[in-house]
Amino acid sequence: MTGRPNLMTPELKANPFPLYAELRRNAPVSQVDPGGMWAVTRYDDAMAVLKNPRTFSSAGFGLATNPPWLGGNPVSQSMGALDPPQHGRLRTLVNRAFTPTAVARMEPRVRDFVARVATALPLGRPVDMVPAFALPVPAYVLGELLGLDPSLHSQLKRWADQLTSVTAIRAEETERQEPVRQAVAEVRRYFSEVVELRRQRPGEDLVSDLLRARVDGEALTQDELLAFMFLLLLGGLETTVHLMGLCVLALMEHPEVMERLRADRSLVPNFVEEVLRTGAPGHGLLRLTTEEVELGGVRLPKGARVVVLLGSVCRDESQFKDGERFDLDRPGSQLPFGHGPHYCIGAALARLEAKLATEALLERCGGISPGEGPVVWHRSMVVRGPSSIPAVLHPA
Ligand code: HEM
Repeated sequence: MTGRPNLMTPELKANPFPLYAELRRNAPVSQVDPGGMWAVTRYDDAMAVLKNPRTFSSAGFGLATNPPWLGGNPVSQSMGALDPPQHGRLRTLVNRAFTPTAVARMEPRVRDFVARVATALPLGRPVDMVPAFALPVPAYVLGELLGLDPSLHSQLKRWADQLTSVTAIRAEETERQEPVRQAVAEVRRYFSEVVELRRQRPGEDLVSDLLRARVDGEALTQDELLAFMFLLLLGGLETTVHLMGLCVLALMEHPEVMERLRADRSLVPNFVEEVLRTGAPGHGLLRLTTEEVELGGVRLPKGARVVVLLGSVCRDESQFKDGERFDLDRPGSQLPFGHGPHYCIGAALARLEAKLATEALLERCGGISPGEGPVVWHRSMVVRGPSSIPAVLHPA
């Protein structure tokens, strides 16, 4: 390795794992581009960061998602950017919508929707599996949660793409900035309308629940509510679309795994776990040091921007024997959903979506071959996954 690696090059987005292995061996806490963030690649160091929000503040998420050229981004004010104890108040409020019972209640509707998506997949001719398969299910689930108009589902993805690309755009890349500013303005306008509508006519959706909710007698402010909706769009849509895409790629790259799954559907949850671990769709967790601190033998100054690379941590040999290998028989791990106070609120929902979608895909087809053209990877520091998967599905 020579010089500071740039994690946003197309080659590294497609396959960062050899670099991560080298960093874990030789430079476990070291600076990377864009922006000279301190990348944390080993399990032990990652735990030290995620368990210690007093020194490694989530203000780093706020800073990275609202660069000066953007001029404001509600997600940078969301609970994703707050530390305890302020974080806890908001988390308590929104936790209620994501209890196991609340998630189980969604299952029949998600199952029906997934079956419709799978049945519409063409067999024996080229298809891009991101718009045809990976996107519709998470967009439907998020739309249902927030009570959004179904006609906006494809729009949601365009917005989420723009919002997650903020972390990959440099100050001098002015032509890439305008679409992001526009997306922030459009989402803000649209979400404000949704909130207003629910205020006037409450329903059985999350926004209505949050408008009714009180902690210590206090309701969420309008800004807090909008910030949370932005956070859900970022945290709940893009990550899950990427997980679905990574599931398709895993089936395409490991036909022997697909065969085992087709013979025994009880292995599907394990398959999803191993895709989460090896693909790490929630890829980079952003923190900011509040004081000088030593991490992995390196002295970080106060105000250092830190990115915990879950994609590397989830393959660390100290925790995952033969960690680079896709192993259907490996027990699952919570790690792909983070650790500590910000542990993913939507983990159960994401797992459910991926399980149902994989089952439906196995029902629909007997094999998946690469189509014409390359797989295209989304450029972002915080998430990782394909934005296009040319493929051909073969009949079951
Ligand atoms: C494969 C899918 C998903 C992955 C890999 C994933 C991963 C993660 C990770 C790693 C974090 C921790 C961030 C940090 O520590 O800075 C997180 C937080 C979060 N996730 Fe997810 N997520 C997924 C799906 C979802 C879904 C479906 C939702 C909701 C519909 C969701 C909502 C959130 C929220 C609101 C947070 C912030 C929690 C907090 O700040 O307390 N995620 N997610």
